Amino acid sequence: MKDIIIKKYPHILHGGDYNPEQWLDYPDVLSEDMRLLKIANCNELTVGIFSWSTLEKSEGEFDFSFLDKAIDDIYNAGGRVILATPSGAKPIWLATKYPETLRVDENGVRYKFGARHNHCYSSPIYREKIAVINQKLAQRYKNHPAVIAWHISNEFSGECYCENCVKGFREWLKAKYGTIDKLNHDWWNTFWSHSYDDWEQIDPPGPLTDHYVHARDLDWKRYVTYKTTDFMKHEISVIRKITPDIPITTNLMGFYNGLDYRVLSKEIDFVSWDCYPPWSNNPSRDLHEARFTAMTHDLMRSLKHRPFLVMESVPNVTSWFEYNKLKRPKVHELTSLQAVAHGSDSVLYFQWRKSRGAVEKFHGAVVDHVGNENTRVFKDVSALGERLKGLDEIVGTTTKAKAAIVFDWDNRWAIDMAKGFATNNKKYIDTVEQYYYSLWKRGIDTDIVSRTEDLSKYSLVIAPMQYIVCKEAEQNFADYVKNGGTLLCTYMTGMVDENDLCHLGGFPCGELKNVFGIWNEEIDTLYPEDSNTIKLYDEKEFKAIDYCELIHTRGAKVLGVYGEDFYKGMPGFTENSYGKGKAYYVAFRDNGDFTDYIVEKLLNETSISSAFDGELPKDVTAHSRSDDKNTYVFLENYSHNDVLLKTSLNWENIEIKALLDSKIELPAQTTLILKQM
Ligand code: GLA
Ligand code: ZN
Repeated sequence: MKDIIIKKYPHILHGGDYNPEQWLDYPDVLSEDMRLLKIANCNELTVGIFSWSTLEKSEGEFDFSFLDKAIDDIYNAGGRVILATPSGAKPIWLATKYPETLRVDENGVRYKFGARHNHCYSSPIYREKIAVINQKLAQRYKNHPAVIAWHISNEFSGECYCENCVKGFREWLKAKYGTIDKLNHDWWNTFWSHSYDDWEQIDPPGPLTDHYVHARDLDWKRYVTYKTTDFMKHEISVIRKITPDIPITTNLMGFYNGLDYRVLSKEIDFVSWDCYPPWSNNPSRDLHEARFTAMTHDLMRSLKHRPFLVMESVPNVTSWFEYNKLKRPKVHELTSLQAVAHGSDSVLYFQWRKSRGAVEKFHGAVVDHVGNENTRVFKDVSALGERLKGLDEIVGTTTKAKAAIVFDWDNRWAIDMAKGFATNNKKYIDTVEQYYYSLWKRGIDTDIVSRTEDLSKYSLVIAPMQYIVCKEAEQNFADYVKNGGTLLCTYMTGMVDENDLCHLGGFPCGELKNVFGIWNEEIDTLYPEDSNTIKLYDEKEFKAIDYCELIHTRGAKVLGVYGEDFYKGMPGFTENSYGKGKAYYVAFRDNGDFTDYIVEKLLNETSISSAFDGELPKDVTAHSRSDDKNTYVFLENYSHNDVLLKTSLNWENIEIKALLDSKIELPAQTTLILKQM
């Protein structure tokens, strides 16, 4: 079965953000857009994102004429529309008449009108006004054949510390803890006399209070996610009633640190995200960009375990990096197809046409200020569009990974907040990426999952730096191994509960001591210039850096010991059988060599392999999507060399419908899309 996220239009979407409201005084430009749309091989435009002030010039005075025309024109040009709600930026009349809709910063200062995302998610007026316009949009376009999906707001982000938001925080805490005594206990408030007598006394963390009660900081971040999600749900509820069959998304931002996307994404029908790696800015970093972007696509896909959309990307350069080097030839196609390889059913851009003024006037777009189709970028876009047209059979297929890496937002927050270890050397995401890299370069399909979700479909789960382990996660990891899974955890595992209270009775917490058959007494933080060694029993030796835990076995088999310092000879790497499965504990951080060794070993033990059978040279990788009938493999060459790949399977190049022989040529910086026959 295919899982098609936009049933009304099962094609790879190619297009992007379109702002006709900026060009209403230039009718020739608007008609030219429609001519160019076809030549660019685009089939979609996203409209309405920041159109509030054009749609509602003054309170209650609506004029949808520009949007009516834009949607009709796009449809007549053969395109489809993703329709946005305009809550990402508000009109001046709203800010002036209802200043309470403006955000308040952590010092209690109310912002003035300006920028975007400058509104309080609690504000009853803001909610009322957005409901009115969303309802009108839904009513007006509910039967328009062009409209295939909803795009709620734009890149939800930021925090508000106004009275309403703070009140909401107190209510959220009350619902969570029930009594003030429980909150005082779980936040450890006797520390520095922080105990509260009453909910009304609780303020969010900030410069006027402090950041010393980490449970409060964590809860505030969770509350911001709750509040943002609640606002989004409010927007959605109006629309869903009127257009129950039009799927809803909002554009996420990958590993954005401000929101727990696992919570927020539950409320949307499919995930979409804005993908802006700085390709070509620093060629020596391109490989890093390739794997980090691959990992981010996998995170976005894994939020709902469904295909997703790339809602924004840039056909050339952004305007907001420190350096904005042009995308080199071939990079656009290579990186756009990477998104499709990982589960995107679109390549969409910010934006269709470069704005004439303001801050984004030099941000890459399909149509440049010159205004025609004779640019390098336009031609790149058009050529890619031609390829995407031939990929209908990919739409709705998805990745069926046997390997997973665990990543949770609150774990990241808690690790970053923790005082101790090395303040600026925690590197949680880098560590996740290091493990990911070893899987990626071997062409292993990987999901990025939460510590509490069902792990049973994976043969291998790698869970680096699981600092927060709540009861549910403890049980989840234990059950996973007991039932036959292979689990790898590292230093800093099971140290605190979800409120950042240290687990008592030895780390890792509770049953994990039995799962791994070890306990961790201390953790040594090394200076950047320090290192230790890990000697494996087969004589292999690896470097340990940054963190070395001093662990004791409680039944585990020692596979490697420290080679130096006063803990020389103590275990650094262990294996334990638990139920039907195996649990590996890596007590130290390494520079990547050990990671690569252990990943390879565990892939062999769990019989996980790439969907592509041939060997993958350096900087060449493979990723697959499938349905119950077919498996498609994307071969991606990020190197600057043409390579020859060998295979013993039968493949068809789906774009030219040709069967390949056992040697496959893959030119530098290109992608081939194969179907297993
Ligand atoms: C974000 C926004 C867009 C635009 C781009 C520019 O992703 O959603 O409106 O500002 O950045 O890169
Ligand atoms: Zn507020």
